[in-house]
Parts: sequence; structure tokens; C-alpha cells
Amino acid sequence: QLSLREQLYEVLATSAQFYQHALRQSQGQKALQYLQSNRQLKEETIQQFGLGYAPAGWETLYRYLVEDKHYPAQILEKAGLIKPRKEGGGYYDVFRDRLMIPIRDVQGRVIAFGGRTLTDEQPKYLNSPETELFSKGKTLFALDQAKGGISQLDQAVVVEGYFDAIALHAAGINNAVASLGTALSLEQVRLVLRYTESKQLVLNFDADKAGTNATERAIGEIAELAYKGEVQLKILNLPNGKDADEFLNTHNPEEYQALAAPIKRLSTLEKFRFRIDELSPSERKELLETAPLWLDWQIKQIIQDRDLKQATDFQQVTQQLVKLLKKIANSDTRNY
Ligand code: CTP
Ligand code: MN
Ligand code: MN
Ligand code: MN
Ligand code: MN
Repeated sequence: QLSLREQLYEVLATSAQFYQHALRQSQGQKALQYLQSNRQLKEETIQQFGLGYAPAGWETLYRYLVEDKHYPAQILEKAGLIKPRKEGGGYYDVFRDRLMIPIRDVQGRVIAFGGRTLTDEQPKYLNSPETELFSKGKTLFALDQAKGGISQLDQAVVVEGYFDAIALHAAGINNAVASLGTALSLEQVRLVLRYTESKQLVLNFDADKAGTNATERAIGEIAELAYKGEVQLKILNLPNGKDADEFLNTHNPEEYQALAAPIKRLSTLEKFRFRIDELSPSERKELLETAPLWLDWQIKQIIQDRDLKQATDFQQVTQQLVKLLKKIANSDTRNY
């Protein structure tokens, strides 16, 4: 007798196979075409991420799993795959006519799905609801694929979207995970930092208004770690409005890696308490080069679009900077 969780894992794994199979049939042709032409993905990457296609009918998965394979409908419902019809009884599939992206836990077990529309239907992405196995704020997409690369490079890159992570892995940048949307939680950060020794995290959200807001919120979320220096956080902004996937369409992986390059660590300086005016020019230079980049980014956010010759702007900037600096636990960093 399997436990509920074991039954959920099984039905999700079988669904992932069903979707993968459908991608190779004539009904899945347009989805496969999309992956190859629009996303320029190789067969190897499609396999690596187990990408699939949910057929267009209202109950294709239901019929296969419940009627053919005799899985209990309640298990499918608890897995977030089907919903009861409002009238007349029976169930319908949650994912229909969508490109299917399995979301896996750290051990690589399928726990949920993201489904992308192939038309301009809304929402663009439909995700599994929260279930016994899946909690969005505790999961990072592609961590199962990235954990080796993260410990090897001693650095993790967090992007917004499924296809940003997939494109990075396809380009050989295998330390990338996706936050599954715009919010990045403290729990997600702790999870990914387990695999890095020096706690280096590159936040590479979309270079648009939504991405900037999400970056601000993420810094707020992990402030307690950042201010204590428990995460070496670097904010990577790509040029004009781009996400990692779009950037890689026109740039080499090497260019991306250079932008995300590991943050230099304080060598001699971090061992000593010091006063900034006691530093030699070369020590100051080192401090400057190793300053936490998230802080620079926040300072820039406060200062930009302000005219410091205007009294009100000056006052607001000063207030915000003081508020920010008060939170910095390390006095060396604060002095700098
Ligand atoms: N997302 C979501 N639901 C939506 C929109 C977005 O869950 N309705 C999540 C997805 O994980 C998505 C990520 O937020 O990958 C980033 O959103 P966005 O930048 O809008 O999408 P892209 O991943 O860039 O989408 P595309 O497939 O068009 O590249
Ligand atoms: Mn976006
Ligand atoms: Mn995007
Ligand atoms: Mn995109
Ligand atoms: Mn691309």
C-alpha cells in the first residue's frame, strides 16, 4: 500500500511520460516545432528537461490515467492535474493544448508542471496549484539539474523564467535556476545557497519594470542575509528589457558568464577591523572592488532620476540612503 505522497509522485511521473509521448505524436507537432524553431532547442535539451505537450481535448489525461491505467481520480485531483466539473459530475484536465514543463524537486522527482500556451491565450503560463508535494515559494525550477554546477562553480544564478534557465543550461551555463515567477523567497534563497560554499548568488531578473520591482522585493526578502554578509549577492542587469533567454539569442555564453562572473572576496581586509582613513590606496581599491554589489545597485536605484541640486530631491535621497545604511551590520561596508 503506497502512501499518499508516493501515489502523487507516481501519477505525476506517469503524466510527465504521457506529455512527453504526446509531443512526439502528430498532435504535438506544433509544440515540438515551437521548441525547435522559436526556442532553438536541441533534442538533447528537450530530453534533459523532459518537455512535453498536453493535448487539446478536455479529458485526454483523465481518460488515459483513470480509465486506462486505473489511477484513482482523487489522486489526480490532489496532484493538481484534473478538476471536478461544476455540473454533471466527472472531471476535466487542468492542462490543455499547452507546452508542458515538468517541475522537479532537488532529487529530480516531478512535483508539478508549468504549461505554456502556444497561442496568445492568457495566462501565458499556467502552473500547478499548491499541492501536498508542491509549494511554489519553496521550489526552484531546474535545481535538480543545477546543483552540481552550483557547487562546482561555487555560485548560483537565479533567473525569472523557465526558458531562461533552460536556455542557460543549453548554453552550458549549468548553475542556473528559475524562481518560477517574480517573487523570490528567503526560503528559495536558503535552498540554493546550500550548494555554494562562499554563498555567491547572482540575481538576473528581466531587465524591465517588472523585473526591477521583483529584484527590489527579492533584496527586501533576503535582506536579513545580505545585510549580515551571509549572501554575496550580485545583481545582473542585462541590456534593455531582455531576459537571459533573449540575451543568449544574440550573445555568446561567454559574454553572459563574464557579466555573472564570481564576485571577488575580501582577502586580507575582511580579517581586520579598520578605519577607512587608515587604509592605503591599494587597500581602498580592493575594498571598492569587493564592495557588495547589491548595495551599489540599491544606491543607484535611490539616486537615479534625482536632481541632487534640488533641495527636496537631495533631502529624499539622503533620507533613503541613511535608512539603507542603518541596516548594514558590517561597519567597514557602511563606512565605505
Ligand atoms: N509566470 C507565471 N505565470 C504567468 C507569467 C509568468 O507563472 N502568467 C512565471 C513563469 O515561470 C515565467 C516567469 O514567470 O517563466 C517569467 O515571466 P515572463 O518574463 O513574463 O515570461 P518568460 O519566461 O520570459 O516567457 P517567454 O516564454 O515568453 O519567454
Ligand atoms: Mn518578465
Ligand atoms: Mn522573461
Ligand atoms: Mn522570455
Ligand atoms: Mn533563445
